[in-house]
Amino acid sequence: MRFSDDFISELRSRIDIEELIGRYTDIKHRGSRTPTALCPFHTEKTPSFVIYRDTSSYYCFGCGAGGDAINFIKNIEHLDYVEAVRFLCERAGMAMPADPVDDEYLRLRRRCYEANREAARFFCSCLKTQAAYEAREYLKKRQLTDETVKRFGLGFAPDTWDALTKYLKGKGFSETELIAFNLARQSKNGHTIDAFRNRLMFPIIDLRGNVTAFGGRVLDNSVPKYLNTSDTVVYKKGQGIYALNFAKNNTERKLILCEGYMDVIAMHQAGFTNAVAALGTAFTTEQISLLSRYCDELFLSFDSDEAGQKATARALRLLSASPMKLRILNITGGKDPDEIIKTQGREAMQGLINEARNDTEYALAKAQKKYDILTDDGKLSFISDAVNILADINNPVQRELYISRVASITETKRDPIAAQVEKTRKGRKKRQEAEAFQNEAREAAGDDKGKIPNPERRANLKACRAEETILASLLKNPDYLIRYSNVLSAECFVTKVNRDLFISISERIKNNRPLELSYFSEESSNEEISILSYLTIFGEKIAGTTGEFEDCIHTLAEEKIKKDASSGEELSDEDFMNIIARKRKKSGV
Ligand code: UTP
Ligand code: MN
Repeated sequence: MRFSDDFISELRSRIDIEELIGRYTDIKHRGSRTPTALCPFHTEKTPSFVIYRDTSSYYCFGCGAGGDAINFIKNIEHLDYVEAVRFLCERAGMAMPADPVDDEYLRLRRRCYEANREAARFFCSCLKTQAAYEAREYLKKRQLTDETVKRFGLGFAPDTWDALTKYLKGKGFSETELIAFNLARQSKNGHTIDAFRNRLMFPIIDLRGNVTAFGGRVLDNSVPKYLNTSDTVVYKKGQGIYALNFAKNNTERKLILCEGYMDVIAMHQAGFTNAVAALGTAFTTEQISLLSRYCDELFLSFDSDEAGQKATARALRLLSASPMKLRILNITGGKDPDEIIKTQGREAMQGLINEARNDTEYALAKAQKKYDILTDDGKLSFISDAVNILADINNPVQRELYISRVASITETKRDPIAAQVEKTRKGRKKRQEAEAFQNEAREAAGDDKGKIPNPERRANLKACRAEETILASLLKNPDYLIRYSNVLSAECFVTKVNRDLFISISERIKNNRPLELSYFSEESSNEEISILSYLTIFGEKIAGTTGEFEDCIHTLAEEKIKKDASSGEELSDEDFMNIIARKRKKSGV
């Protein structure tokens, strides 16, 4: 065994399988318990690829591909098992367990953290020099206090070609390292030059206090306004949350998500120490799961401009599946939180936070803005949009509240709106049920399509069903293994894949090892993993009772005898004797 169960368990907990798969195929019903997608492993027009969030697995009812995150990456990226684990580790910001190869990787990460820390120190000290006069003036203009500058570790990258490179080389870092860490780059004529020059520097600090990356802002209006570290061994775009190292300690479990570095810093300086930012790139589901570890109520405080509003809409879509309560600030009287605090003071900002709307209110207000609701046409269009929004609300009290509100806004009666909302909800439910039914029908019909990658399945359908039920039941009721040990053994199995699976499941049960899919990944074939993945899904449909289990053992015994008898010519002597013995036993001879 290459990786410990603990390690796999940690890796598993850090991976959002939906987000992972979403990078390779478009996902429908994002965030639901079982999102679906077009299968990335075969060509299809209607989605038969299902993701099971509960078990962190996937299964394609079209081609039978199935497995966990590791297996997915293995197949889609054409990697071997260890490479796939490494791939996921890097994405999850986890170190691979030590071995000769991985030591090198860990060492590189350590070097990168060290170089970043030295660089941050260097930038800080530069901010105090004569050359940083303009930068200090700029900070004054932005009204940042010395204390704030110190708290956020702000610094200055001097306006020279290679000040940092020279400094870090003096500290023992090679040019190759500095380039790999994104602190330097190769110029056109082959010199190694600093990546950040003449910029105000914002170190990005992770939850453990490591400097993982930098953002650098120009002091004037030149572009690009911000330069950010691109991916390195310790930093992946779309993973971190700026200032979460400070904000995570707020006891209310409320966070305010802003768009920019400067907003966050201004907010903290004004006392809103629960402000964070998603850092330049588009907000990712990975960042959402990070936020939700520290937050129950998320306030979106993006810029008031069009880009900010688009970002809000996008974030709301991504957040719709998150359990966090959402509130959206209506930023008015300034472009962003930084400007509002500066021009109107912290009370104004506090006011915006207090008045922040929940997602329903926000969506309704947005729909209302689209139409002129003083006209009949406008009213009708707004109501039709509103009905769709209201139909999303699952809490009946809340739904009722907003139905009345829409009625009052449009000066119409509540009953017809309520009826329309109910109709929409019923329609949606029906559609969902129809989809579920189709999936099930596909599953049932799939028997002949060979979707379960057991090559012997078609010829042994009845036996296979019994085997699958036994295996699925065992995964749920490991105690059955001992309970039925005198009647159920590997030899009872008709098909080889299921027999092998039975052996590896039994081994695990006997050794008290976990039975979730991810832990099988290393030692099992693709075929086995796919079947296991199917078994986890199938496990939800079976009764899992002892009665069912016993019936299956019976069926299996009968099927085995039938099969063995029909291929009598090829039987070994031993097999032959076994059959006779069993037949005797059965007929009581
Ligand atoms: P903003 O332009 O709103 O930045 O971009 P800001 O933080 O309010 O900066 P000021 O107030 O003009 O100084 C929001 C965020 O988008 C990223 C940065 O993370 C920035 O904080 N960004 C913006 C970039 O990465 N690159 C850019 O060129 C611009
Ligand atoms: Mn700004």
